[in-house]
Amino acid sequence: MAEPAGDVEALPRGGFRCCLCRVTVANKPSLDDHLRGKKHQHLENLRSIRQTQELRSVFVSGFSKGTPASELSDYFQAYGEVINVVMDKDKGVYAIVELQNEEMLKNVLAQTNHSLGGQKLRVKPREKKDFKKKPPRKQGSARQQQLNPEKLAQKLCEADDVDAQMSLMVQLFEFSESERRLRDLVVTLFQEVFLEFFPGSAILPFGSSVNSFDVSGCDLDLFLDLEKAKHFQASAKGSSASQDGANPKLDSQSEDSLLSDVDLTTATVPEVLELVATVLQKCVPGVHNVQAVLNARRPVVKFCHKESGLRGDISINNRLALCNTRFLQLCTEADERVRPLVYVVRYWAKQQVLAGNPFGGGPLLNNYALTLLVLFFLQTRSPPVLPTVARLRELLDDEEQTTVDGWDCSFPKDSAKWDPSRNKESLCSLLAEFFHVFEDYDFSGCVISLQEGQLLPLSTFLSSEVSDKFKIGSFNLQDPFELSHNVAANVNKKTAQRFQLCCRSAAKYCRSLQYQRKSTKGKIWGLVRLFQPGNLETEADTAGELIICLPLTLAALPSKSPEHHGGDFHQLGFQKVCAGVAFVLRDVLKCSCLETQGFGEELASNDSKKEEEQSETKNEPLAAGFKRSLDDGEEKDIFSPFAKRPRTEALLPSGENMTWDCSVWHHVWQGRRRVRRQLHALHPDPKDKAALLELEAKVSEAISQQKGEARPVDPLLRFIVCAQLDVDGTPGKPDTHISLRFTPVPEQAVAFKEFFHFLQHFLPRMVEHHLASQAEPQVQ
Ligand code: UTP
Repeated sequence: MAEPAGDVEALPRGGFRCCLCRVTVANKPSLDDHLRGKKHQHLENLRSIRQTQELRSVFVSGFSKGTPASELSDYFQAYGEVINVVMDKDKGVYAIVELQNEEMLKNVLAQTNHSLGGQKLRVKPREKKDFKKKPPRKQGSARQQQLNPEKLAQKLCEADDVDAQMSLMVQLFEFSESERRLRDLVVTLFQEVFLEFFPGSAILPFGSSVNSFDVSGCDLDLFLDLEKAKHFQASAKGSSASQDGANPKLDSQSEDSLLSDVDLTTATVPEVLELVATVLQKCVPGVHNVQAVLNARRPVVKFCHKESGLRGDISINNRLALCNTRFLQLCTEADERVRPLVYVVRYWAKQQVLAGNPFGGGPLLNNYALTLLVLFFLQTRSPPVLPTVARLRELLDDEEQTTVDGWDCSFPKDSAKWDPSRNKESLCSLLAEFFHVFEDYDFSGCVISLQEGQLLPLSTFLSSEVSDKFKIGSFNLQDPFELSHNVAANVNKKTAQRFQLCCRSAAKYCRSLQYQRKSTKGKIWGLVRLFQPGNLETEADTAGELIICLPLTLAALPSKSPEHHGGDFHQLGFQKVCAGVAFVLRDVLKCSCLETQGFGEELASNDSKKEEEQSETKNEPLAAGFKRSLDDGEEKDIFSPFAKRPRTEALLPSGENMTWDCSVWHHVWQGRRRVRRQLHALHPDPKDKAALLELEAKVSEAISQQKGEARPVDPLLRFIVCAQLDVDGTPGKPDTHISLRFTPVPEQAVAFKEFFHFLQHFLPRMVEHHLASQAEPQVQ
């Protein structure tokens, strides 16, 4: 496939970058797929439209402030047809006037004296700008954007215990006062506009903006309640039909409204939503990217609001959501442990890619389903933390009976009427129990019922009235009110299995002292390791794994023969290579590299504190690595001398696997040769391995400081590396090597490959240099 000139840039090691779409692909076939794809075609199309528009547009200024676009249009029509006039919105001091064709443009520019309303106009050709895809606008408050995983880890490690870490999670993620106010303002703006077009309507927020599980930057879910608008329309029609004594206010409003075009009582949901989309697009200031999604279970209109950076959707047939939103709010009021537990489980599930489909769909649990799972768990503790829905019904006053869409949605709307819980479990233990309970759950063989606070065996459930419409699947979680709805119906078998495996790993980790106790040595502890993506001991399929093998003979073996070292012989080698890997990633490539233990190295909770301390001592330099994370703003300090030094080897843990959580902040794998050439004055003697490493570190540093390589808020790539000592071969001829298994965060799998290809060559060489530099006599 022919590549569009200038759009595609070849990268080292066979990769390509499409500069138009800002997409990087690993090879030529992927490039061809991308170039044929919708996104590229759309942008190409858009670019060509923009370019033609540019070629026939003029930039006009000099007119009086407040001049309407129509006057400018009338003026230029003397030269031909005017296609469009775009006024500078903020100050109204300039305009872009799109003319019929280039011929007309020439004529306009040939005239040197333009004037309008007595003012001399300045008319010039439009500046030609490079067409660039706008980078996606960052969601969320500045506070959340700053909270990258490393910062979060740091803050959590400062807490006193796991309970404090869990409460801190709420504080770090919930809305700030200003974000809450901003959302209220956006809701008011929507309300005002919709009232104009649908008199009597109401805009009601539901979901995470208001259900007490707010996370900075989360979607804004809105319900447009048209019930009163329907009555309003009916009465307005009635009064205009009778033509007598019509209410003048109603008449004037209905003239302005769109109600005259659509009969709200008979219109279908898609028809009304199309109308909602039109109102959003044309009449709500700052709203863009409006899109009606009509084939969803609950059709919605999606939108973005420019000024606030908020994304959200509007639905019109989702009254049940208002009811379950209130239920969730009341659960949090009933017991203060609910919020921290839900925040932590949500974040854990997001990190493990188990939940959080941003726009619904997909095989992951949605946040609502995950929240219900936590509430169910709390209903089933002994004694319960939360009451079941059936129990709440027993506490009802008669006037609180509520039915929505035919479903009984009754529960006391005042949490003071709910039974206070006698359960005294700590947050730390509830979280551990959550994982423990679900590690062996039969998600597909039964239905989780929050109404009853029980697991209903499929055989029993299938004989119930609601089972006909209930979509039985791999994960069956019944909505507490809409009993025929499986809120996890979209979850596939693989995700359900992964959910269980992740719970198993997490439960195992929660039994360790590393989870339960704050480290006194600055090592990560508590929630932090739980949140590391993909840090799992699962039976995940190994196809397509990213592995680099390093022979143990990489100058790592102790000088004496194995017999002299007994069982430690291989371990010493392993530790040396691991130290080399960490050194190259951290000190040479300037990655953040946070060391953790493997999940397999569980510290049994009955082990003594001494054991924990010993393990901490062994890890100490790694904790120092954590302190030296790039995020501390101590980038200079991490560049420690490259001369031989007594470093980590003696202190590394003697376990047989080793894990690091790494982040890459700059394109340190690109253009190294060029930068190396530029630094040629520093070219060292090839035998001086420490100096070679120092040069490579300088190359990374220079790349990080290049133009356009400002330190990003989020890392470019995030991945886990797990080093393991493997012995293959035959009994008499064992092949002992270290395999480094790389696991990128799933959404970066493609982009990560390019970095991985670079590492395949770079890492073994540099580790070898490092080991040699450690062995060679000190260079003075
Ligand atoms: P979400 O799953 O988006 O949850 O559903 P959330 O709490 O708003 O979390 P974010 O937005 O992902 O951060 C939004 C709301 O939609 C309703 C619930 O009221 C839920 O709070 N909902 C969702 C249902 O009623 N049924 C469903 O199956 C899913």
